[in-house]
Amino acid sequence: MIILQTQNEVRVALADKKKLALIPTMGNLHDGHISLIEHAKNYADKIIVSIFVNPIQFNSKNDLKNYPRTLSRDISILRDLGIDILFNPTDKEMYPSKPLLNYKLPSLATQLCGAKRAGHFEGVITVIEKLFDLFKPDHVFFGKKDYQQLMLIKKFILDKRYKITLHPIETVREDNSLALSSRNNLLRPQSKVTASTLYKTLKDTIKDLKKTNNINQAELSAIKKLTSLGWHVDYVEIRRQTDLLKPTTNDKNLVILGAAYFEDVRLIDNIEFCTDDTKCL
Ligand code: PAJ
Repeated sequence: MIILQTQNEVRVALADKKKLALIPTMGNLHDGHISLIEHAKNYADKIIVSIFVNPIQFNSKNDLKNYPRTLSRDISILRDLGIDILFNPTDKEMYPSKPLLNYKLPSLATQLCGAKRAGHFEGVITVIEKLFDLFKPDHVFFGKKDYQQLMLIKKFILDKRYKITLHPIETVREDNSLALSSRNNLLRPQSKVTASTLYKTLKDTIKDLKKTNNINQAELSAIKKLTSLGWHVDYVEIRRQTDLLKPTTNDKNLVILGAAYFEDVRLIDNIEFCTDDTKCL
């Protein structure tokens, strides 16, 4: 594995371009990230993983400061996985001057997580644009765990006509169903057990919805349930899978998305489901 830190080094290393797969990350690698890498192995001759804690996607200085960083451990994980290139730039390398995004985000970027984290998705798309333009990957891999991010990147690739195949990868979970996340490392060990109630509540809400058919009521009772379990809820919303807009009565393929704080740690999760098992995709 080679470790590159500058965009010039990248250009030289990729002169003999083969089929490239890119997996952007912020490091503190876990089995969720590793699943993206394992999927990439089926599609590319060269696998590039980027580790860059992107400062402009954090809307809180404290969140950025506390974000778990474990670079030497990450490097040894990537070496064991046989990764070709790790891209690990400095902030200055990525942002020598004020970042400029040449793309207007769709209104989806201001809903759900975007409504609670002003500027977050602008920051994500800004760094993704830089990484796509630098590596010109053939395949990119993103997790469904960050469902809204995935949706916005999908639209970004379409709008900008990048010749990139986007692979959405299923969420990897702990045995108790808690979605793996670098932020789980900020929880106290015993809280990881309680944190699995986010997933369980979303799951139960799907069951309730199938009985009542009342989306507003299902969302409200999920928020109530989570609050009673000690969560500070940002949102629980049921949307349609295709574009994350509010469902109409004809929409059957839905996703329930939740974001909530447990002990000041913000976690997100989601579950795709179908309201009519006979008409699922
Ligand atoms: P990060 O949180 O490090 O996640 C990197 C990639 O791993 C994302 O595509 C994310 O959806 C995926 N991922 C995280 N947890 C997962 C899990 N439990 N199962 C499967 N995939 C999982 O997302 C970011 O970084 C950043 O916003 C980034 C896209 C790198 C831009 O800075």
